[in-house]
Amino acid sequence: MNRKVTKAIFPVAGQGTRFLPATKAVPKEIMTLVDRPLIQYAIDEARAAGIKEFIFVTSRGKSALEDYFDTAPELESSLKKKGKTELLDVLRSTNMDSGAIAYIRQHQAMGLGHAVWCARRLIGDEPFAVILPDDVIAGEKSCLQQMVETYEEVGGCMVAAMEVPPEQASSYGVLDIKESMGPLVAAKGMVEKPAPGEAPSNLAVIGRYILTPDVLRSLDKKQQGAGGEIQLTDAIARELKSLRPVHGYKFEGRRYDCGSKAGFLQATVAFGLNRPDLRDEFSEFIASVQAGHPAE
Ligand code: UTP
Repeated sequence: MNRKVTKAIFPVAGQGTRFLPATKAVPKEIMTLVDRPLIQYAIDEARAAGIKEFIFVTSRGKSALEDYFDTAPELESSLKKKGKTELLDVLRSTNMDSGAIAYIRQHQAMGLGHAVWCARRLIGDEPFAVILPDDVIAGEKSCLQQMVETYEEVGGCMVAAMEVPPEQASSYGVLDIKESMGPLVAAKGMVEKPAPGEAPSNLAVIGRYILTPDVLRSLDKKQQGAGGEIQLTDAIARELKSLRPVHGYKFEGRRYDCGSKAGFLQATVAFGLNRPDLRDEFSEFIASVQAGHPAE
């Protein structure tokens, strides 16, 4: 029986340059899909998977994130006075228990692998999850929950995997496949951002991981990879070299790359259309835009 995964790292120290100028003042993770910030979707997914400790790797300018998870006593008492109980419930879903959430600073954006390494002392010697909040995954069962359930049987390291068209593979970490077993894929290698035409498969790694503490020890070496950054993919690939298992998990659900403008807009449309209170008005509007009458 493999150990339960109860800790998750949320690396949120990136600069979010693809969303400038917005991200000059607002952390990318606070940008909203319909009415909830990206980070709330990530936290809800983690909770559904049984995560109890939430570790944020932050940087300068991200204090809005800390405030978001704090209580808001004045707002709460004003809503209480007005009898707005539904809004109070919405607000309370953002509160975190004292001690359940921790913030670590990454002083320089040296790459995702470095961001994860910054949290090593809070992880200690147990398996942990990594969630990138800009990958938002819609599905019946949370992606991390699907992974955790399978991890409990197979152990080792596990990464969320998704098929991508060959021309997009060079934007991702890509798995070299040893064996496919339904949704589970045993890897024999992993390459970060392969050159066009050199991807070992069409299975790309997206922002959900379950990792062993060995990966943190491997990140101690601080080896730079693609783009001069310390890459998490490289550290996981070194696990394979040490003959420790790494699996890809082809999750059920649809992933939106909310770190890119096009992906963020797609997610906004999909989540908006999925909301019963907005669906009719919004779909009418979209139909009118498609018909070439956006202002009607
Ligand atoms: P991205 O590659 O999307 O980088 O990072 P970014 O800085 O957030 O965005 P762009 O590309 O400039 O628009 C993937 C994830 O890794 C985190 C980011 O916060 C994001 O969640 N990250 C990346 C760090 O925490 N530290 C780093 O040094 C790099």
